[in-house]
Amino acid sequence: MQSQLPSVSGVCAFATHSHAHRTAPGFRRRPILGAAAIGAALLFGGFAIETRLLSAGERWRDNDPSADADIEPVDGVGNNLAHPTWGQAGADLIRLAAPAYADGVYAPALPGDQSPRLISNVLNNQADPSNPTVDLSTVDQRSLSDFGYAFGQFMDHDLDNSPNGSASLPIAVAAGDPIGPDPLPFNRSVIDPATGPGTGKPAQQITIVTSYLDLSQVYGSSQVVADALRTSEGGLLKSSPGNMLPYDNATYFSPAQITALNMANDPEAVSEDELFAAGDVRANENIELTALETLFMRNHNRIAAKLERNHPAWSDEQLYQEARKLNIAQYQSIIYNEWIPAVLGNHALPRYRGYNPKVNATISNEFSTVSYRFGHSLVSPTIAREGNDGQALTDEIPLAVDFFDPNLLSASVTVDPLTGLMSTDIGPILKGDADGNGQAMDLPAIDPIRNLLFGNGIIGGQDLIALDVQRGRDHGIPDYNTLRAAVGLPKLTSFSQITSDEEVQAALAIAYPGGVDTIDAFEGGSAENSTDDSDVGPLFQAVMADQFERLRDGDRFFYLNESFDREETALFNEANTLTKVIEANTSVTNLQSDAILFHASISGTVTIDGQPRGGQSVTLHLLDTSGNILGTETTNDRGQYSFDELSGPSVTPGVTPGVSATGFYVVSVVLPVGFTQSSPAPAAIEITGGGVNVTSVNFRLNGPAPAAKRRPRPRR
Ligand code: HEM
Repeated sequence: MQSQLPSVSGVCAFATHSHAHRTAPGFRRRPILGAAAIGAALLFGGFAIETRLLSAGERWRDNDPSADADIEPVDGVGNNLAHPTWGQAGADLIRLAAPAYADGVYAPALPGDQSPRLISNVLNNQADPSNPTVDLSTVDQRSLSDFGYAFGQFMDHDLDNSPNGSASLPIAVAAGDPIGPDPLPFNRSVIDPATGPGTGKPAQQITIVTSYLDLSQVYGSSQVVADALRTSEGGLLKSSPGNMLPYDNATYFSPAQITALNMANDPEAVSEDELFAAGDVRANENIELTALETLFMRNHNRIAAKLERNHPAWSDEQLYQEARKLNIAQYQSIIYNEWIPAVLGNHALPRYRGYNPKVNATISNEFSTVSYRFGHSLVSPTIAREGNDGQALTDEIPLAVDFFDPNLLSASVTVDPLTGLMSTDIGPILKGDADGNGQAMDLPAIDPIRNLLFGNGIIGGQDLIALDVQRGRDHGIPDYNTLRAAVGLPKLTSFSQITSDEEVQAALAIAYPGGVDTIDAFEGGSAENSTDDSDVGPLFQAVMADQFERLRDGDRFFYLNESFDREETALFNEANTLTKVIEANTSVTNLQSDAILFHASISGTVTIDGQPRGGQSVTLHLLDTSGNILGTETTNDRGQYSFDELSGPSVTPGVTPGVSATGFYVVSVVLPVGFTQSSPAPAAIEITGGGVNVTSVNFRLNGPAPAAKRRPRPRR
């Protein structure tokens, strides 16, 4: 989502950066543990860490020793000592492929292609064909929980933000399209003023946040924002009653600070001073995102308070920087040990071999404008608020009415004036995210973001997918095939090489009558079959793996390149997984060990009296408590069946198939003709969280009475 920066067409708002990174006065690192001890401690989390910890000799030979004496710069300037601008806030995005502007400099790419809205209608409509008013509800093929997208968006707001300028490039809408009749508004991104028209150089877009995984969405990407968010006491970040984020108003900030924070409020459904304030302008975009912003603010303050108890003499600055270092380390550990393996597979990145000052971590245009937008396909249409038993505490929030509505979040229960729904603390939202699967990674995207974006539930909102496609053309991103070639993948010659799904092949042919060389990179990448071990296809995987490898290897402050003493190691281990961070900072207690994934199952056996087990295959239904069929399975040759999150299909439009969320489920046998069930119908089965596998939901059947044997007729 774009910030609401003042229009700065052709002017890079954050082009100059003067101050170098600072070392806290009087702040000295304490003696470090040996690398072996650190390795053992980092493995404490209970999962295999992909990276290799370096021996002490290697550390000092290969790495810049000054990392330990330095404080990570808030604006990214000087993270790389030889190239201080790499990854800084305000940097130009780098490119993996040559820009493809129609005029070589600034005119949008792919000028012959159809309107992005037309393409979105053909390719990305998730409506059920048999009931077009309702979206099909799908389940992510890698069993990602809602954190697959919610944490992914939270990460995105750390990594990139290319603000809108004033140049307009509206998206044409066809007659009869309910989102019309007016074209969809679209402003071209701000470009580096040293590039683009009149310079002879192809336009380069900028990002106003630091590239590094440094929790800039929590702490800010500039010194003025970072300072505004601090209490200046005890190393703490500002918060409001109930341990919520501070509000964007005069109680917490000066007018100059409010200007610097520049919190976005796209639908303007609430007044500015009701918004929460955080390090990234987009913090109020949806309530799951705001909950994660709040979570990491709390985590910082929790660590700072512990440090202060252990070190009463430390200054505010010492406590703040030390808590920040540990908070970032825990966040990076979640990304590299949980989120990336879940989304990109266990072998997407080579092993960590230590900091490499030759690696430029800056975000690539193809990452922010194409592949990392994959998350738009995973977004769920409703937001659950759940208790520790996995049951709903109150109504789900339809995403369509949730945009920029901070009043849905509060420490004590209130009624949100905008939606009439009850507000909750962040815990029930985070438990809800862990308790269900995201939508499938594919072309279709749900109505709340494809028709109702920022429209407060009223038709006439925006189409996020059309924005994604238009943004690619705006940024001069080449067509799908050219981008594939640029990242080392073979070019394809037919739609059938992109996807095995024949309906999608046919839709691609309608959207792109010019053939495979005219496909927008975002659409082609979204259409690809996912690779064996990942949620995305080869193009998105290649672009994302390249970026996450550079973000790791090119970050002098990457947590495995820092030294941790005994106390730091203990504090790190307290919350080095997403589950542990949530449980340490909320009243949530019942989460699966890896909250990025939601697996649950119900299984049992069917025996038929008088027959060997599995002698006859029997069909079973999985139902919700309203009687909707969520999946169908048959017993195997040992009479066993199992339903899990990937079972399906659901026969009711809009109802998600499989055991894809917490709640109550019913299993029933489809009795073969002449059979009766001799065991009682099992009670509704409760799933309270991810990782819950209910077994022994068994059935006993009586077969039909064996037919009387015919006596052979006596021969005459
Ligand atoms: C409810 C959920 C979300 C909403 C409403 C949303 C909305 C938006 C909007 C409005 C934009 C700007 C589009 C443009 O004008 O180009 C955007 C950009 C973007 N989104 Fe999302 N988004 C959501 C979730 C996600 C997720 C889950 C991811 C990734 C995992 C993601 C990744 C991105 C990226 C990479 C950009 C480009 C940001 C930049 O560098 O400027 N978004 N999103």
